[in-house]
Amino acid sequence: MDDKPTVLKLGGSVITNKEKPLTPDLKAIERLTTEISRAKVSSLVLVHGGGSFGHPVAERYNIAGGYVDQSQILGFSQTHLAMTLLNSWVMEALINHNIPALEIHPSSCAVTKFGRIVNMELKPLKKMLKLGFMPVLYGDAVLDSKQGFAILSGDQLVSSLAIKLGACRIIMGADVDGLYTADPKVFSSAQLISHLTLEELKSLEHKIEGSKTTDVTGGMLGKIHEVKLAIEHDIETVIVNATKSLRVYNALKGEKVIGTIIEKG
Ligand SMILES: Nc1ncnc2c1ncn2[C@@H]1O[C@H](COP(=O)(O)OP(=O)(O)OP(=O)(O)O)[C@@H](O)[C@H]1O
Ligand SMILES: [Mg+2]
Repeated sequence: MDDKPTVLKLGGSVITNKEKPLTPDLKAIERLTTEISRAKVSSLVLVHGGGSFGHPVAERYNIAGGYVDQSQILGFSQTHLAMTLLNSWVMEALINHNIPALEIHPSSCAVTKFGRIVNMELKPLKKMLKLGFMPVLYGDAVLDSKQGFAILSGDQLVSSLAIKLGACRIIMGADVDGLYTADPKVFSSAQLISHLTLEELKSLEHKIEGSKTTDVTGGMLGKIHEVKLAIEHDIETVIVNATKSLRVYNALKGEKVIGTIIEKG
């Protein structure tokens, strides 16, 4: 059994309709859970993003900015609830495909300091992996030691978990083919970068932007900022388009796939 886990992120941009509030993309969830089931990766941690569930509610109450007044407390609960609703769709699809998935709610086991994880209980997660479960986490509203609360992005969870679990690989499933020279949704001339080293990534960072849709965690720029930390630990990262058939499957199987591979170099 391969004991080094793979960490897979399914972007909220993929599993929801980011233009319509609280709308899951059930076809995408069904297809992706089929791909995950067929790939049969022995040790896999799944993290999903917020899409049109978490981001709009978190933005309305400025959860990412921390505590300002008491009215935000209900907003925190609503943000978390929205994420658990999306998580339920994902969990149901996974378990329907006979995947022994088990969700871990970040708001119950992680504490951040100015938005960065400082404390996270990983014992249950490690035990789950040993027994053959697939732990499933998601970007969530969490308690914060300095600002009351914060948003812990799925992207930060991915790299933090990959580092702490000694993962062999990170696969980031997004709604674009990978990292481009500029936002491909804005610049039709943007070119896909299929391979780059950490040094090359750092020199390109100023060209990467956020997201055109509501994204309180920084879109592609936020994602790159997070995966850089894992790549520094020599964890190879591949960004693929999870809205297209078999890209996630091929990445999970370690086969050649259209996307962006980032290595330490
Ligand atoms: N240089 C770039 N290359 C690729 N995408 C970019 C770039 N700059 C900005 N983007 C935008 O980043 C978006 C992906 O980030 P976004 O946060 O929206 O998705 P996600 O992380 O999958 O969703 P969620 O945050 O809900 O999990 C793309 O849709 C794209 O428009
Ligand atoms: Mg995002």
